[in-house]
Amino acid sequence: MAPSNCRDLAPFRARTPGAYPVEVDQAITPVARPEAPIDPFGPTGSDLSSDAGSSNGPIVRAERRTVSEAESRRANGPDWDRYADEYQATHGPFLGEAGFVWGPEGLTEADLGVLGDVTGKDVLELGSGACQCSRWVNTQGGRAYGLDLSGRQLQHSRRLDEQTGVVVPAVQATATDLPFADDSFDVVFCSFGALQFVSDIEHAVAETVRVLRPGGRFAFSITHPTRWMFPDDPGAEGLIAAQSYWDRTPYVEVDDETGEVSYVEHHRTLGDWVTILARAGFRITDLVEPEWPEGHERIWGGWSRTRGLLTPGTAIFGANLA
Ligand SMILES: C[S@@+](CC[C@H](N)C(=O)[O-])C[C@H]1O[C@@H](n2cnc3c(N)ncnc32)[C@H](O)[C@@H]1O
Repeated sequence: MAPSNCRDLAPFRARTPGAYPVEVDQAITPVARPEAPIDPFGPTGSDLSSDAGSSNGPIVRAERRTVSEAESRRANGPDWDRYADEYQATHGPFLGEAGFVWGPEGLTEADLGVLGDVTGKDVLELGSGACQCSRWVNTQGGRAYGLDLSGRQLQHSRRLDEQTGVVVPAVQATATDLPFADDSFDVVFCSFGALQFVSDIEHAVAETVRVLRPGGRFAFSITHPTRWMFPDDPGAEGLIAAQSYWDRTPYVEVDDETGEVSYVEHHRTLGDWVTILARAGFRITDLVEPEWPEGHERIWGGWSRTRGLLTPGTAIFGANLA
């Protein structure tokens, strides 16, 4: 999680304390990154978190620049492989092994119910990470499947399958090319998953429409689009608007040594999301902006009580396919 002096442009990226001496200056900021110890056939079970928190690694610089879908995928898959151990070690206990949390505010699907009753339903999670949310769906009588770009995230899912006895079938794939037949699911959801990492969002939503059955439900959480105006600082400085809300240029990290893009996040305004969903044939039923809960002190990247009391950090959409 981010220290109070961590200020950069990444709306989601959760930094390791002390590992990211990022200045508020818009771009070209050196950022120490975790090394990449990922062996796809490497340790499983409790060994998985042994490298968590490592901060050695290539230096990257942060910028805003246009990137293609292919470039986004090429960067984000390996990036999430590198980051998965740290992510699960840091946030796993908060997420719960079979818990469904919609975002850093801690709002759960058990409290929100934006998916509706999942009993007996076929459910797909996009950008499932370790499939904690899908595992919760399965405890509620649903049949959930996970999908993620990162093999390492899915290894963590296997670990949780074994630990909990609640198994989530999962596939390594991209949200822009779903390896499922048409009309396969009653519900598709995404909790801070693939959608904000995808460049070709219209295509990802079209893929969701294709695999949903008529009348199907789509729900997803994202970084609240207004957060893109602010530095990613959980402290008071993170409340000073410094960037245009309407600037859709992606946030990009570039490996200083190789010059290759190593991480990407994409921004759409609230209006963009409404338009994308409506044009794809969805009727929006919910737009939830969770308030910061009483007594909740946990900091997750730029999400904190200081900012959360004043500005929304998460947006959760719910929509039905006509
Ligand atoms: C912030 S994590 C969220 C994971 C999980 N939903 C959770 O709540 O812990 C984002 C996930 O999206 C995945 N992801 C990024 N781009 C993707 C894509 N194009 N298709 C599928 N998954 C993607 C990443 O690998 C990562 O596991």
